Amino acid sequence: MPKTLTCPEHILKTDLKNKTYIVTGGNSGIGFMTAKQLAKQGAKVILACRRFSEAEKARSSIQKSVSWARIEMMNLDLSDLSSVRNFVKEFHLNYSELHGLINNAGVMFTPQGKTKDGFETQFGTNHLGHYLLTELLLPTLKQSTPSRIVVLSSCYHDKAQGREGRIYLEDLNFDNRKYDAWEAYAQSKLANLLYAKQLGKRLSGSGVTAVSVHPGWVRTNLIRGFMPLWIQNILLMPFFKLAGMIEPWEGAQTTLYCLLAPEVEKYNGAYFSQKGIYRTKEATMGGWPLHSPNPNAHDETTADKLDELSRSLVGLL
Ligand SMILES: NC(=O)c1ccc[n+]([C@@H]2O[C@H](COP(=O)([O-])OP(=O)(O)OC[C@H]3O[C@@H](n4cnc5c(N)ncnc54)[C@H](OP(=O)(O)O)[C@@H]3O)[C@@H](O)[C@H]2O)c1
Repeated sequence: MPKTLTCPEHILKTDLKNKTYIVTGGNSGIGFMTAKQLAKQGAKVILACRRFSEAEKARSSIQKSVSWARIEMMNLDLSDLSSVRNFVKEFHLNYSELHGLINNAGVMFTPQGKTKDGFETQFGTNHLGHYLLTELLLPTLKQSTPSRIVVLSSCYHDKAQGREGRIYLEDLNFDNRKYDAWEAYAQSKLANLLYAKQLGKRLSGSGVTAVSVHPGWVRTNLIRGFMPLWIQNILLMPFFKLAGMIEPWEGAQTTLYCLLAPEVEKYNGAYFSQKGIYRTKEATMGGWPLHSPNPNAHDETTADKLDELSRSLVGLL
């Protein structure tokens, strides 16, 4: 069984008193653990969440164990581009600095459906919502250098339950092909990886570093579109653990490393992976950074085209 990669202890002790971070989906799973650790290190953390009640529960839970935590909550629904725009407007009213944007929120294996703006649910939420958010926050990130963008991708960008990650530029929304929830998830997670890669190229020399991450197979709520949570958390837990499933704190290690380790600056646009399920044995060990075994993850032309298309789809052209 491959070892779980962990962020070196001294990095998790860096003083973050003068830093501000946004964690999308910070109320749950990996995002919650990331937010809690950043708060523990003194940072101001904004939980960007679609359900205020859940954000409030997360905030008070963090506050209970980290009395000095500086946590703010802001409403953000990534499946609605007007919500993304409103979030950024409100952010700019209150903040002039941003040292880290963690594009963490995500959905997996959703039934066929569309976001408010008419995009396939997983592509629209996981990629396009974050695309608009990131582009609108870029000027602030550039003014706050050194700063980081960490995009949560997945080893499923390689293959999700046998479906190879591919970007269908001519049919991103499954309008002209049969919907397959794993194929759609793989496409969205490859889009996350390619976006970070494209950003890395675009931001070279700017002081902003963008990378993508596979956090590991983590026991969170993400699986609920595929199976009831009690099956993961009770019935199959011993088997899943034996097969490599890790806990949310372990799942936050790659994100925290990418956000805080000084050496990550050398790898603008790269992919960092916890151990994972990949087509090659080497890749299953993970790597900080890791060369993805999916050839589509190295296709710069598609990355550029996806960037251009995403810009136009979210209304930035
Ligand atoms: N868990 C794994 O094994 C695994 C593996 C590879 C990659 N990842 C990636 O890791 C990231 C974090 O997932 P997780 O495992 O921590 O799952 P999780 O516990 O389900 O957390 C996902 C978060 O995303 C939020 N979210 C979903 N749709 C949203 C929307 N439209 N607008 C704003 N927020 C939204 C959820 O909010 P609600 O609480 O309101 O639903 C929740 O806070 C995801 O991007 C996922 O693809 C996870």
